[in-house]
Amino acid sequence: MSEKGVNQVAVIGAGSMGHAITQIMAMAGLEVSMTDVNREFMQKGYDRIKWSMEKFVEKRTIRQEEMDAALARIKLVDGYANTVSNADFVIEAAPEDLDLKKKIFHEIDEHAPPRAIIASNTSTLSITALGSATKRPEKVVGMHFFNPPQLMPLVEVVKGAATSDETAHTTVELAKKLGKTPVLVRKDVRGFIVNSVLGYVFNEAFWALHRGEATRDQIDSAVKYKAGFPMGIFELADFVGLDIVDSASKQMSSEYADRVKVPPVVEPMVKAGKLGQKSGEGFYNWKTGRPRIPFELADEFDIDRIYVTAINGAAWLVHEGVAVPEDIDTAMKFGAGWSSGPCELGDRMGLDTVVAKLKELQTKLNDPSYKPCPLLEEYVSKGWTGRQSKRGFYTYA
Ligand SMILES: NC(=O)c1ccc[n+]([C@@H]2O[C@H](COP(=O)([O-])OP(=O)(O)OC[C@H]3O[C@@H](n4cnc5c(N)ncnc54)[C@H](O)[C@@H]3O)[C@@H](O)[C@H]2O)c1
Repeated sequence: MSEKGVNQVAVIGAGSMGHAITQIMAMAGLEVSMTDVNREFMQKGYDRIKWSMEKFVEKRTIRQEEMDAALARIKLVDGYANTVSNADFVIEAAPEDLDLKKKIFHEIDEHAPPRAIIASNTSTLSITALGSATKRPEKVVGMHFFNPPQLMPLVEVVKGAATSDETAHTTVELAKKLGKTPVLVRKDVRGFIVNSVLGYVFNEAFWALHRGEATRDQIDSAVKYKAGFPMGIFELADFVGLDIVDSASKQMSSEYADRVKVPPVVEPMVKAGKLGQKSGEGFYNWKTGRPRIPFELADEFDIDRIYVTAINGAAWLVHEGVAVPEDIDTAMKFGAGWSSGPCELGDRMGLDTVVAKLKELQTKLNDPSYKPCPLLEEYVSKGWTGRQSKRGFYTYA
């Protein structure tokens, strides 16, 4: 089935992500059935859609008639069977719980037409595991939107072990139809692209703090004002939620024990109920609003450490066939708001410089997680050091 065959969409879960996904699907001209565990939650989701569309009308992004037509394309439906019975494409946005999602996938598979693709908006769970809960694993795919989906341009399309190329292609085309920028995650690794690269960078900041090498303010100042990231690392971690950051880092560490050591600073905060912005306190106190990160400390942390860990993380993704450099750079620019992607950065810094810096940190801190990815070592040994040599992650004319 090509994207042209996707007319009828079913959305499972009408919460923060589900309502927004329903909204953008309907705004793109698709018919959408949305369900949740009860009418009250469905109605709440629908009200949020209306509120958001009204903002678009106020800002003249869409006309009133377009809003009315989009709303008319949305149906609130009770039960999976009725929600998915005529769907070409189902997207699940229920809570992040593998057993719950597997149950949902099993039931959807029973009721959806054989042609239907079943996608999950999961941020961390295995698409392969969700596929195995169905009799159509080749039609199960990840479609990872970023929050808020109405505004964030990136969609990671994630292939599980059994996902067919056709399913991935249809999902990529559907994302384009929604006006999004899709990137293809070719292997089902934890964190996909954006959260994987961010995971390495978070780790670097957390360990530097833990080792007493720099303060929260020095690191965030360098990250924000030297690297130009939209938020400091500690600020972003608080914003995402420290419970989520802690569990993501544990998952990455269990998958890649040699590369990611769980930083000891986050778990005690979670245990103390300091979850970041949502609980009012995390690395920062949020009770009085967004933290002010001091500009004058930007030179007091070596920002190259953040760059080289991001570049090494990106190299692992390329090395393991998870994604190509273009998609990694697009993902970090559109999903994390970086002005340059890590592969572009590596080529600009010089991959020989990156490898030397990683080795220096590995020796100085006696920490094997700085080990340069074999891909970087290979490129450097071939003289592919980036822009200067006209060959690195990219080839230059
Ligand atoms: N919030 C984010 O920033 C974000 C970003 C990207 C991806 N995600 C992923 O999106 C998914 C949903 O997250 P969210 O933030 O929207 O959560 P949420 O808690 O806001 O919404 C989940 C909704 O699912 C409903 N639900 C629970 N059990 C259900 C069931 N059995 N059948 C149908 N609906 C059910 C809940 O009532 C709720 O309305 C998760 O997998 C999450 O990891 C979240």
